[in-house]
Amino acid sequence: MTFVSFRRRPGRRNALLVAAGLTLAATAAPQFAHPVAGAVQTGPANAAPVLSGTVRSDKEGVMEGVVVTARSRNSLVMVAVTSDAQGRFVFPSDRLAPGTYQITARAVGYTLAPVTVKIGGARPAALPLTLATVTDNDQLASQLTSLEWLNSFPGTDAQKDVMMRNMVNCAFCHSLERIARSDHDETSFLSVMQRMLTYETDHSSADRIQVAWPAQPTEGLRWFGRDAKQIASWLATVNLSGGRQRWAYPLKTLPRPVGEATKAVVTVFTIPRESGVIHDLDVDSHGNVWYGNTGWDYIGKLDPKTGRFSEWPAPNFLPPTSAPGTDRIVGVQDIQVDGHDNVWVAVGGTKHARFNPATARWQTFDLPVIWRNPFLGPVRPGETGLWATGLGAAPDGNKRHEQAFRLDIETGQVSKGITLFDDMPDPVDPTHLDPLNYCYMMDQDLNGDFLCTAPEPSGIVRADLRTGKARLIPTPTPLAYPRRGYRDMENRFWFGEFYADKIGVIDLNTDVVREFPVGVKWISPYYARPDAKGRVWVSTTGSDRLLRLDPKTGDIVQYLMPVSYDARKVVVDVRAARTTVWLPNKNANQLVRVEIPD
Ligand code: HEC
Repeated sequence: MTFVSFRRRPGRRNALLVAAGLTLAATAAPQFAHPVAGAVQTGPANAAPVLSGTVRSDKEGVMEGVVVTARSRNSLVMVAVTSDAQGRFVFPSDRLAPGTYQITARAVGYTLAPVTVKIGGARPAALPLTLATVTDNDQLASQLTSLEWLNSFPGTDAQKDVMMRNMVNCAFCHSLERIARSDHDETSFLSVMQRMLTYETDHSSADRIQVAWPAQPTEGLRWFGRDAKQIASWLATVNLSGGRQRWAYPLKTLPRPVGEATKAVVTVFTIPRESGVIHDLDVDSHGNVWYGNTGWDYIGKLDPKTGRFSEWPAPNFLPPTSAPGTDRIVGVQDIQVDGHDNVWVAVGGTKHARFNPATARWQTFDLPVIWRNPFLGPVRPGETGLWATGLGAAPDGNKRHEQAFRLDIETGQVSKGITLFDDMPDPVDPTHLDPLNYCYMMDQDLNGDFLCTAPEPSGIVRADLRTGKARLIPTPTPLAYPRRGYRDMENRFWFGEFYADKIGVIDLNTDVVREFPVGVKWISPYYARPDAKGRVWVSTTGSDRLLRLDPKTGDIVQYLMPVSYDARKVVVDVRAARTTVWLPNKNANQLVRVEIPD
């Protein structure tokens, strides 16, 4: 989240109702023709297997829930499947072209010696895999997810809550492994934390750092605030400080996937531009995946049929900074493809921008705000408006007056602002630690009226364009921290309850909110997206797991990804032949496709 630092920048107030704005031509798209051959293949759905095998170990015999990954040398694409209850795994032929592949396996507590296999003979390749048990604690440590570290750290739930129940927590940009392996004492942890919190949260990852402006040690301390000392002193008891050579506690692991969770084909596409921060993506009517990059002023497109990436420079309307040693923060965050396959993006500044892929031209739209929320409301085929929120200036000059605006995507007209909160305390003030009223992510109901998640009042805000009135519907669980989500065609809005480890849904016909517990503490559900079959896909942070809720039964399937994954937005490609879910892997510069048989 960038509320704090974006709000610190002087914005230019533009109170006009604006029709179509400035048009900019982008330079020609650089194409990245990368060595994907051998790993991407189109073909009939549910094609015959080309590679299959069985996973076993001496300890367990046949093993269920082992994620087996195939990658051809130098390829930026990897394909993964998971072993079933009989230990059997199957790669379909429409996902692996003939070639030579390196095979790796993910099962916490186990390793696999290097395996190479050739695919393309007359018969499918058969591969027996035998995993060895990890005996070295250090090796086990390098396999843990952040959630497994958190479970392993000695400490009370209250101590863990203090660190985790933050909009930006210590597992936001990198694994908690960095903390576990460090030797900081309380004092040096405090200075590490202050350094971390000068990093522009949404525009940085483990590899790409952008320093927030102004870069001062208290920046972002709101997220830890008065708890910083408490967090630092606790963290100094779980790491390798004080000359400790090893962790004095057992390393706890999460269960492997079982049953339904073993039936997915996962393809990971690494973006050629290095060290990107991929916050959000969307899919067009041809199945191309469009992504914003909060690490760079570019948008990109992946054609998954060929594995080809294209990128175009994006405008940026943030004022340059005059702070010594800091550059303008760059990057494109939310991205939405409309029914005409035009691409809407949230670029830096107070405008929205639309990219027309046919002409490679940008058009921008001013919002009458001094600060704009970096998310865009979705705009589905047939919808003619998208919603934005931002800080407008109230008639009494109150700059902390939050409003919603509807942008008509056909005419470029921006509606009058609807006041959502006019008592917003100032989040820029680092001494202010009480809950804040603000809208986080927005959407529209079936009537086209506004709704948003409001994390700290813990509810959903709805507003009516005609009456200009807004109201808050609280979540049944207090402090659930509703984060991001999506409205389905039955007029229900689904959302992640980040602090409650639940998936929420509000029936927009009745305002009744229902919650589905995930049953895993600190799994931190972030974005919820319904698919065409009524199931809901939910990204998490820190567990490398993608969730699928069946609302009829409340059952939740936990898919384990082949890579360390931290997804923000989740998008379902509703036109694909199989259920197809796309995730940006924010900290690893990857796009992840999850397909399940129907
Ligand atoms: C906005 C992204 C971001 C967040 C949030 C973040 N970190 Fe980091 N962290 C980084 C980056 C980038 C590096 C590598 C560069 C560096 O060390 O400054 C890093 C490195 C580290 C290291 C290893 C380097 C060292 O000095 O020991 C530790 C330990 C660490 N972080 C602890 C934390 C803790 C504790 C928190 C929560 C208070 C946290 N991080 C939150 C981005 C982040």
